[in-house]
Amino acid sequence: PAATPAESTTDSPSAADGRRASEVTREAARRRTFAVISHPDAGKSTLTEALALHAQVITEAGAVHGKAGRRSTVSDWMEMEKARGISITSAALQFAYGEHVINLVDTPGHSDFSEDTYRVLSAVDAAVMLIDAAKGLEPQTLKLFRVCKARGIPVITVINKWDRPGLDALTLLEEIENQIELQPTPLTWPVGIAGDFRGVLERRTGEYIAYTRTAGGATRAPEERMGADAAAAREGEAWTAAVEEAELLSSDGSDHDQELFLSGFTTPVLFASAISNFGVAALLETLVELAPSPPAFGWGEEDETGRHLQVREVAAPFSAFVFKVQAGMDTNHRDRVAFARVCSGVFERGMVATHAQTGRPFATKYAQALFGRERAVLDQAYPGDIIGLVNANALTVGDTIFLDEPVSFPPIATFAPEHFAVASSKDAGRFKQFRRGMEQLDSEGVVQVLRSDLRGNQMPVLAAVGPMQFEVAEARMESEFGAPIRLERLSYTQARRTDAASAPALEAIRGLEVLSRADGTLMVLAPDAWRISVVERDHPDLVLETLLAGG
Ligand code: G4P
Repeated sequence: PAATPAESTTDSPSAADGRRASEVTREAARRRTFAVISHPDAGKSTLTEALALHAQVITEAGAVHGKAGRRSTVSDWMEMEKARGISITSAALQFAYGEHVINLVDTPGHSDFSEDTYRVLSAVDAAVMLIDAAKGLEPQTLKLFRVCKARGIPVITVINKWDRPGLDALTLLEEIENQIELQPTPLTWPVGIAGDFRGVLERRTGEYIAYTRTAGGATRAPEERMGADAAAAREGEAWTAAVEEAELLSSDGSDHDQELFLSGFTTPVLFASAISNFGVAALLETLVELAPSPPAFGWGEEDETGRHLQVREVAAPFSAFVFKVQAGMDTNHRDRVAFARVCSGVFERGMVATHAQTGRPFATKYAQALFGRERAVLDQAYPGDIIGLVNANALTVGDTIFLDEPVSFPPIATFAPEHFAVASSKDAGRFKQFRRGMEQLDSEGVVQVLRSDLRGNQMPVLAAVGPMQFEVAEARMESEFGAPIRLERLSYTQARRTDAASAPALEAIRGLEVLSRADGTLMVLAPDAWRISVVERDHPDLVLETLLAGG
């Protein structure tokens, strides 16, 4: 509509731009985008529910899921997903907490996890490391932690299930410090040993937060705050013990330091019982107070220290990068949904952005957020938010879309595969479809496709972080490309990167095989870590670079 003269004087384009920029800055500042990293059964689903209960759920983008029958499974993706009652793919849950908006980006919880789990961590600004008090650090937690560390994501630790008998609190902290070289700085300290959880001592204030159990933890657990004297009178020795241990921590230098936390040297620790909602409010407070809001993203060329020379400020025009692509969610319309993290500006449904990789326009008129079964429409999103772009056939993992000023974010790191299988077309007459499908799955990052002259084009090696990626590949090759495949598992478990100079020598070593990725990267496959260490010892001149995580 034409502006009236009065409007045009107060509302010049530059004034409108300025207003928009400050609105985006404000919206970004109140957002926290994080993921939970944990081993299966540590209580991630329970914690997610507890967080949603405390806060007010705004949206559920994509699949939020629990175990079969635990709660309604909101995703009805592939049959195999239904059969197993798990979610293979992941999206995000958004909720309001006070003045803040929290985006919890889901990591698939199954032990058979895939590269998607790792990629999710490229879309978050912080991670919550959830530990079972009885089990301590477990393998999957460690793997995910390593990705956080490599990416420099600050980590908040939650020790869960304190209502059940478990390890001693100091022992758990020692384990974190010794195994992953992260200095724990407890914000709360439990009153009562594991199995007798009465409340926590808040170290910052020295106050006691007493917990009261509610039936089944179904509502917010009432918390009662009191001073040290009241706490001593109420809890007696349990309080005295907590105070003594907390003093010990302070003399040890285990106090929170925001700068050390943000740079990944320390981790604030909270004690909780997700099932009874204990400690959940403290986690939300911690996220709001300590976790970073969406930062400006670096891109473009790097300097000697690996820092990107260009920066996309949050208030800059819209930009987002795709961190996962999900295909075949809707069996009626074989569509692709690209999940993207907004990095700058405002996303508005209907806008036509530019796809950085092709320079082509990308119309978002079909862009929707997936809210459970119904695809509710998402109208606006700000930095830190996750959007689901429907019909995103042109987009693949790592791609950037933007408005106005061009930007192309760096690709998402690929991870060390641990599972390998030779793929071949069941029907030799469908080789063209087979090749097209393989290329597509490779570019989407469903599996990595490796080739060598030795094996030829007809029998590429598929490489995956988790074996479930093979099942997804098999299902899609049949249903989407009409080229059913046969998979023959190989006994390799290790992959390293090498270069053209080292390749011939490595290939000559018994048990090793060298293959190349579509981007030209040379990969050495080995049966086990022991074989790699022998080669490293005997041939120190050969290049055997570790890939991110798992390797
Ligand atoms: P996950 O998503 O990390 O795999 O874990 P999930 O939340 O499904 O929790 C795994 C099990 O641990 C569940 O028990 C859950 O009830 C229990 N749990 C989670 N948090 C706590 C806690 O703070 N205290 C205690 N005592 N238990 C907790 P389950 O028997 O496998 O399932 P269910 O039948 O109880 O639902």
